[in-house]
Amino acid sequence: MTTRRDFLKRISSAALAASAAPSFFLQNSFAQDRGISLPGEDGMIVRSSRFLDLETPVEYFDFWLTPVPHFFVRNHMHEPSELNAGDWRLNIGGEVEKPFALTLAQLSKLPTHSVVNTLECAGNGRGLYRPQVPGVQWGKGAVGTARFSGPRLRDVLQRAVVKSSGKHVMFRGLDEVPGKVPPFIRSIPIEKALDSDTLVATHMNGAPLTKHHGFPARALVPGWIGAASCKWLTEVKVLDSEFVGNFMSPGYRFPNQPGKPGEVVKPEDTHPLTALNVKSVISGPLDGASVKPGHVTIHGAAWAGEADVVKVEVSTDAGATWSAATLGHESAHYAWRLWSYDWKPKPGDYTILSRATDNRGRSQPDTPVWNPSGYLYNAIDQVKINVA
Ligand code: MTE
Repeated sequence: MTTRRDFLKRISSAALAASAAPSFFLQNSFAQDRGISLPGEDGMIVRSSRFLDLETPVEYFDFWLTPVPHFFVRNHMHEPSELNAGDWRLNIGGEVEKPFALTLAQLSKLPTHSVVNTLECAGNGRGLYRPQVPGVQWGKGAVGTARFSGPRLRDVLQRAVVKSSGKHVMFRGLDEVPGKVPPFIRSIPIEKALDSDTLVATHMNGAPLTKHHGFPARALVPGWIGAASCKWLTEVKVLDSEFVGNFMSPGYRFPNQPGKPGEVVKPEDTHPLTALNVKSVISGPLDGASVKPGHVTIHGAAWAGEADVVKVEVSTDAGATWSAATLGHESAHYAWRLWSYDWKPKPGDYTILSRATDNRGRSQPDTPVWNPSGYLYNAIDQVKINVA
């Protein structure tokens, strides 16, 4: 099992070898060269700096809880430039008997609940689709796990008394909307909104949310695509039907039937994305690494949205044979499991694969299910290494 100390050793040797070009250090100096200041974001892969999109290098997947400065960031537009906690209000309205607004002080007096959740962007892995799909070319790291805490959304909704006509719950963030870009507004069905693990989160890993992650409060819709968890939350509106808007349609939809790569799919043949897929990622050895023969630990993380990972298998011969990995002891319903596999290789070139299976019987496919926006990539993971 890779310990935190092993991990830190690897990170610091990577830092020493920065001139030998580990890509994530180069990416950060790319940001600095362009005058982009990323305090506390060292080592992140900058996928976009117009609207900040930062990817976590897979080395950080060795922490069950991702350190907040290394947690991926996905912004569709500008973060709010001014956010004064004293002036902030959460407005609750729509199909409710008693609309009301909460200050942050009032929100923080409500009973708090914590959920350890793996948050993954629906577009994570888009850069791996072939043919290539337009959009942010995420590699493997638009995902992370954190302990989110705050009041249950259902406690807030119950105080407003939802009418029987209330079927969906809409979230609006305080993003600064540039030009003609439609605002980031999405909705979730009332059943998920009333789930005891759906939160108005104010804390992440025990500290108040940072601005990148939605200060002072965000929705936390566990097990679902990251887009469901609206940051800089300012409005919760109960609706009688699903919200109609860019980020519900055409955004964040998936074909009802699998199609051929490159195929165009009609909007009426799609549905909104909800829960995440079963998936695993190898966090070490890194792709392209050269390691010494003897003892090698293959390791990574695996998650399954609203389901639980029950098995991770590893192949060291490009899929001809598979062996069970050991699952880490830290677990929570919506959180990833770390895993490891001890291997004694002889010198040679190897293709290593990992495949997760969940308690609903879902396993990672050999190839991802094609969709025109490159969502929910979850093919069996692969690294190629040399043992010499
Ligand atoms: N909320 C607002 N208001 N604006 C956004 O652009 N991005 C969403 C979601 N919530 C977004 C948002 C997407 S696509 C993802 S994947 C998650 O936030 C990312 O959360 P993080 O940046 O805290 O990792």
